[in-house]
Amino acid sequence: MKETNFETKCVHGAKIEYELRDIAPPIHLSSTFYFKSAEEGGELFEGKKDGYIYTRLSNPTIEILEKTLAELEGGEKAICFASGMAAISSLIIGLLKKGEKVIFSDPVYGGTYALFKRLENKGLFEFKGIKAKEFVKKLEKEIDKRTKLIYIETPTNPTMDVIDIEEVSKIARKKNIYLAVDNTFATPYHQRPLELGADISLYSLTKYLGGHTDLIGGALIGKKELIEEIDKEEKAHLGGIISPFNAWLVLRGIRTLAIRMKAHSENALLLAKFLEEHPKVKEVFYPGLPSFWGHKIAKKQMKKGFSGMLSFIHKNGKRGAIKFIDSLKLCVKAVSLGAVETLVEHPASMTHSTMEEKELLKAGIDPGLIRISVGIEKIEDIIRDIDNALKKS
Ligand SMILES: Cc1ncc(COP(=O)(O)O)c(C=O)c1O
Repeated sequence: MKETNFETKCVHGAKIEYELRDIAPPIHLSSTFYFKSAEEGGELFEGKKDGYIYTRLSNPTIEILEKTLAELEGGEKAICFASGMAAISSLIIGLLKKGEKVIFSDPVYGGTYALFKRLENKGLFEFKGIKAKEFVKKLEKEIDKRTKLIYIETPTNPTMDVIDIEEVSKIARKKNIYLAVDNTFATPYHQRPLELGADISLYSLTKYLGGHTDLIGGALIGKKELIEEIDKEEKAHLGGIISPFNAWLVLRGIRTLAIRMKAHSENALLLAKFLEEHPKVKEVFYPGLPSFWGHKIAKKQMKKGFSGMLSFIHKNGKRGAIKFIDSLKLCVKAVSLGAVETLVEHPASMTHSTMEEKELLKAGIDPGLIRISVGIEKIEDIIRDIDNALKKS
């Protein structure tokens, strides 16, 4: 039988039969769940319990989301967290022993970079960045006996660099090290890292999966054994769990994920083409543009479009970029991404402000770079607002 299509899986979620035949998943807010008495079956005295004990360990609503994510991603198991950063920190602490090393794509999200620096400065682990554009070429040379994990974003935040997941996974497998891919920008609609050979696919659910600027969450998805260990240890004992209500909001967002991603990616391509021709624009970074350096790799590993994230360098540098953002009337000046409304930000002073100037330049983050999370408004309205703001800058 032909497998159900991704769009349909988004609408229906994980196949779960609810006791009351709910169509929308129920929200279970209870923090704790009672043990049966001896009369009811005596769980307490058997020292084991069927089902739920305490929401930090597991919760029915969170579990529906986890099963849905695993299905969408083609993974054996998923676990959810209070934020993308809680997922990333649990992954690093869960996988690595003291003194072990992570090789990461440079750039990564500013918060991820700050976490890596903090853990390294405490003398716990080592983190080695390789410029995303040269990642595959330089990777093997950087791997040594202490290397435990390769951590990449593709497309990268905020430069949209694209890394060949299949090629990296071949090297990871040969060297017997883990590969984790932050798939926040692409979502499983466009790209499924596990199917391309990665061990872990991870998300800030705050972004496209939630989709409506009203929740914070994160997730790790991968092989059962690996995810189960982080579930029992780091999720349970660092305790950064998603709330049942936020899990429910993500489930609500996922129902329209496919249709939103289609609209985001169509709008982004039209905007990228418009920007490419604009006299105030020095360079546009969008994996869907045939002129973009990583377009060929993106075409190979991204399906049904290239998502809604793009960035560009303003011809008038940092001053032009700031003036442009300040002149927007419709598009929202804010960090975060993956929302229905268009969000515009200046990475060097906002999402990546924890990086020093030389670190920004090394990662390819120009002072005049502007990042746009293209929303699902009518594209003419977005373009008009952006054109007016560019003219004023
Ligand atoms: C690519 C990427 N990964 C992870 C994160 C962290 O996610 P959260 O803000 O949900 O902790 C972000 C946040 O912007 C991000 O852009």
